[in-house]
Order: sequence, then C-alpha cells, then structure tokens
Amino acid sequence: MLEWMDSLRGRSLMRLASFTDEEMLDLVNLAGQLKARRAAGVRGNLLLRKNIALIFEKSSTRTRNSSIIAARDEGGGAEYLTRPDIHFGKKESVKDTARVLGRIYDGILFRGFAQRTCEELAEYSGVPVWNGLTDDYHPTQILADLLTVKETFGSLDDCTVAYVGDGRNNVANSLMMGCAKAGIRYVCCAPRELWPDEAILAEAEAVAKRNGVDIRVFSDAKTGVKGANVLYTDVWVSMGEEAKTAERIALLRPYQINMDLMAATGNLNGRLMFLHCLPAFHDFNTEVTKQTGALEVTDEVFESKYSKVFDESENRMHTIKALFVSALCDRSAV
Ligand code: CP
Ligand code: NVA
Repeated sequence: MLEWMDSLRGRSLMRLASFTDEEMLDLVNLAGQLKARRAAGVRGNLLLRKNIALIFEKSSTRTRNSSIIAARDEGGGAEYLTRPDIHFGKKESVKDTARVLGRIYDGILFRGFAQRTCEELAEYSGVPVWNGLTDDYHPTQILADLLTVKETFGSLDDCTVAYVGDGRNNVANSLMMGCAKAGIRYVCCAPRELWPDEAILAEAEAVAKRNGVDIRVFSDAKTGVKGANVLYTDVWVSMGEEAKTAERIALLRPYQINMDLMAATGNLNGRLMFLHCLPAFHDFNTEVTKQTGALEVTDEVFESKYSKVFDESENRMHTIKALFVSALCDRSAV
C-alpha cells in the first residue's frame, strides 16, 4: 500500500522551501515506494487520464525523459513543448499561456531561465507547477540525490555532503537547502567569486540550525572535504552562462574532483560516494571537452565504485513520479 502525506495534494514545487522538511522527506520516501513497485513489474493507474505539459526553454535528457515516463508508467500523458513550438513569451505572455494550459492540463513542469517565469506559471495556471530547473534552483534534482544517498547508505543520518565547484549555481543552491532540510551537514568548496549568495545561504543556515546541523564554506577544497561522505559536483558553466566559459575554467581548475580529493575525505575505506547531477564532463569524448580541455571530475572517479551517478540519474524518474502522484493522484484509485 503506497503512503504519502495528504498535504502534498495539488502542490507546486518552486524550490525546496516550498515544502516542509517532513513533506520533502515524504516525497523521497514515496519515490522509494514507487521504485520498488515498478521493479516488481507494476505499471499502475495512479495518473490515469492526467496530462502534464512540459515547457522547456533549455535542453534536457534526464528531466524531460523522466517526466514523460513517470506519467506514462501510471496511465497519464506528458506533452513536450519548447519555446519555438508554442507562442510562450513571444506572441503570448507567460500569464496568458499559464491560463490556457491550466484549462487543458492537470499540471505543468517548467525548465527555463527565470525563476519568476516558473512562479508566474504557478500563479496563473491554477494547476500544480513543478520547477524542472531555473537559473536559480533545481529542486527535483535534489529529491533524486537524497533518494540515492538514502538507498546507498541506508539512511540520511550522520552524513556530510561536500559540494565542490560553482557554489552559487542552481544545483548548489537547492542541494544546500535540501541538506539543511534533511539534517545533513553541507560543505561548499568554491573560489570566493563563486560562494553562495548571502541571502540564499542565510535562509539555508536557519533551516540547518533548526535541524541541528551546520553549513560551512571553504575556498580550499582539500580542507573542506575532510570527513565528507558525499562528494558532489556539477558542470563549471551552467546553461545560459556559456560566455563565461574561459573565466570559469580558470577559477575552477583547482576544484576538479579526482582521486586525490576523494582520498582527502579520509573515507576511501568507509562511507563515501561521488554524485553529479549530469551531464558531466569526465572525459574528452564530447564536443565541449574537446574544445575546452577541462573536466570537473576525472574519468577515474566517474567510473569508480564510489560513483552512484547512474542510480542518481534513474532516481530522477522515481522522484518526479512521486511529485506527480502526490499532487495529482486520486487516492481512491490506489
Ligand atoms: N540533471 C539534469 O537535470 O539533467 P538534464 O539536464 O538532462 O535534465
Ligand atoms: N547547473 C547545470 C545543471 C544541469 C542539470 C545547468 O544549469 O546547466
């Protein structure tokens, strides 16, 4: 019997702070239940005749496919809409698009640039809206990360996550809040220029304090990662910031995750994993890495026994399904 909190019904996700700590952890728990159910061969009807619009302004492999399959697995449907496909923001305002799609669909997942666009869709559509990544936040990613940590270590207790790289990007912002809400110690290792935004840090610090953990920020990665159980990184240049590529590579080269840095945790023989939201630059087999010659993680770490990136990637689907089901499922169907 699947279980989740009633308070999640009809809810939007703008950022992790949209949920209470308990609700966020309940979503992770529901995702685990849905994953086990799917592994047992069940494709159900939890989203029967529910239709979800996927508005994407930026590229995606995981979020797009996870959303489509999450809906389809449970009898629902998802329609992929990019900016050139619809009038969004060109001939029709975000507000009008929201009101139109809200009459047709049961929910909207948005990936794009401005956080405000996501908020406007939620304000005017009248249906749940989920943030599938904006310039500021990537909350659905962190639900998958928490599920991966929980599965690998058996619980989220007594855990330290060290994020190494661009400490103020969308993934880092959401990871910091996700850890704070889950009672996980969070360490950010980044050059000063890329330390977290002060307001976002202060908000997460207040949550961390309430949950008895702390957030620490270091410029020296080797010092910062000492004692960490999870080393996490992301690309050095996020979508939309391509003009800053040379500057970022120069700043972040000392922050590459390699075996030396993994060893600096002191946990090579203990509880240790490597996570990355993906896509990752870990070898020279992509157009971008052939041009830049820069990798945020070595192939040795990426392919090592510590790397749980493909579990993490799969968990995007189960956690997005948990969001859809908890918001849209009619419990009498369960
Ligand atoms: N991690 C993640 O969001 O991947 P995509 O950009 O492929 O959706
Ligand atoms: N920070 C990255 C995450 C990609 C999933 C980006 O915004 O491009």
